[in-house]
Amino acid sequence: MKLAALADIHGNADALAAVLADAVAQGAGQMVILGDHFSGPLDAAGTWAQLKGLDALCLRGNHDRYLLDQPREAMGASDAAAHDALPGEALDWLAGLPTVLRFDGVFCCHGTPASDETYLCERITPDGAVAQRDCETISRLLAGIEAGLVLCAHSHLPRALRLPDGRQVVNPGSVGCPAYLDDAPVPHRVESGFPEASYALIEPGARGWDVSFRRVAYDSHGQIRRAVGAGRTDWAGALRTGWIAS
Ligand SMILES: [Fe+2]
Repeated sequence: MKLAALADIHGNADALAAVLADAVAQGAGQMVILGDHFSGPLDAAGTWAQLKGLDALCLRGNHDRYLLDQPREAMGASDAAAHDALPGEALDWLAGLPTVLRFDGVFCCHGTPASDETYLCERITPDGAVAQRDCETISRLLAGIEAGLVLCAHSHLPRALRLPDGRQVVNPGSVGCPAYLDDAPVPHRVESGFPEASYALIEPGARGWDVSFRRVAYDSHGQIRRAVGAGRTDWAGALRTGWIAS
């Protein structure tokens, strides 16, 4: 069975449509979506229209949680935009999602098993650079997780690692948001460096799991217009290039 792993759609309905079509064309028979489905100034309602009724295993990310547990007036701009665009049934759907998933030897989380706000495979240095974590720390964050394959998200950076104990860790990258600014634990920027929609195809292989990353080109002009219309030039630039403009 070929598994499609998607994450961090962030309301980019056009990127999601392109990825779903590509996953079908690639023969994916199962799909998992690792959270942060809606937040952003793009098209949360159009994203919901596709996720609603989709045959996929889904979990809840940190921005999905913020849509549920923060008062509207306390939300950041990206969460508030999604909150205002979504029908109540979408928020009900988010409230019913799990924070972690286990199936067929696979463990899924948004950040780490214990935190939806912590990067599993990356760390932020005190001066705001993004660096790959050492394998001892990743192994410690995955203590007690016995699955041979761990799927994670949150950093928007596609990555596949094999720990010394044989467990594989895969972050499929972001479907809809290729670069962003964040301010915790210190201000930093995360940049995939490419504007295409990212996801991963995973299937059993001779040595564990074979992983291939897909970069799906799509027409992003409509989403860029939405970002510009919302005054989010940071999003518009990220969608154009995969980088945050200096
Ligand atoms: Fe996240």
